[in-house]
Amino acid sequence: MTARKRVAVLISGRGSNMTALIEAAKASDYPAEIIGVLSNKPDAAGLQTAAAEGIATAIRSHRDYASREAFDAALHAVLTGWNAEFVCLAGFMRILTPEFTGNWLGRMINIHPSLLPEFRGLHTHDRALKAGAAEHGCTVHFVTPGLDEGPTLTQSRIPVLPGDTAESLQARVLVEEHRLYPLALAELASGRARLVGDEVIHTPR
Ligand code: GAR
Repeated sequence: MTARKRVAVLISGRGSNMTALIEAAKASDYPAEIIGVLSNKPDAAGLQTAAAEGIATAIRSHRDYASREAFDAALHAVLTGWNAEFVCLAGFMRILTPEFTGNWLGRMINIHPSLLPEFRGLHTHDRALKAGAAEHGCTVHFVTPGLDEGPTLTQSRIPVLPGDTAESLQARVLVEEHRLYPLALAELASGRARLVGDEVIHTPR
C-alpha cells in the first residue's frame, strides 16, 4: 500500500466526528492517519480523547491573536509543523480567512449538519424543521472562503419523521456524520475524490 496520508483535525468542542475519523484510521487498509488534533478552545473535550489515543494535540486560542489573519497564520504554522497533508474540520467553529483556505484548497474538508446548499451556518436542525423539510442530513465539502459554500464531496440523507424535534433530528444526523466523514476522508486521501476547479472529480476504484 502507498503511504498513508497525514491528516490533521481541527475541532472546537466535543470531537465526536474527530473520534469517528480516529477509529476509522485504526484499520490497516485505511488510506490516512490522524497525526494531530488542533483546537481553538483550550477546554475542548476532544483534546482529551485525542491525547488518550496518543495523538499530538495543540491549542491556539483565537482570543490570543489580534486579527483573523494572525490566528490563521498560527494554525497554519501548527499544521505545517506536523507535516499535515490534509485537514479535516470537525466542529471547528471559526470562520477562516481566504489566505488560509487558499493554502489548503483541495486538501481541506468540512462536515456540516445539513444538505448543503440548504441551511448554511448554525441551528441547521431547527431551521430544517421550521422550513418543513421532508429530508435532512449532512454534507462533506471542500473548504473554500465562503462559509459552508465549497463543492460537495458527498452527502447522506435521512427522512424527517413525524414528531421529530431538533434534538431527535440532530441525533440521527450525527449517526450519519460519523459514518459519512470517514468514508469521505478515505475518498480524498486515496485520490479517488479530487477538487478540480469548482468541481469534485470522483474516480471509481
Ligand atoms: C457536528 O454536528 C458538525 O457537523 C457541526 O458541529 C458538530 C460538532 O460535533 N459542524 C458545524 O456546524 C460546522 N458548520 P462534534 O464536535 O461532536 O464532531
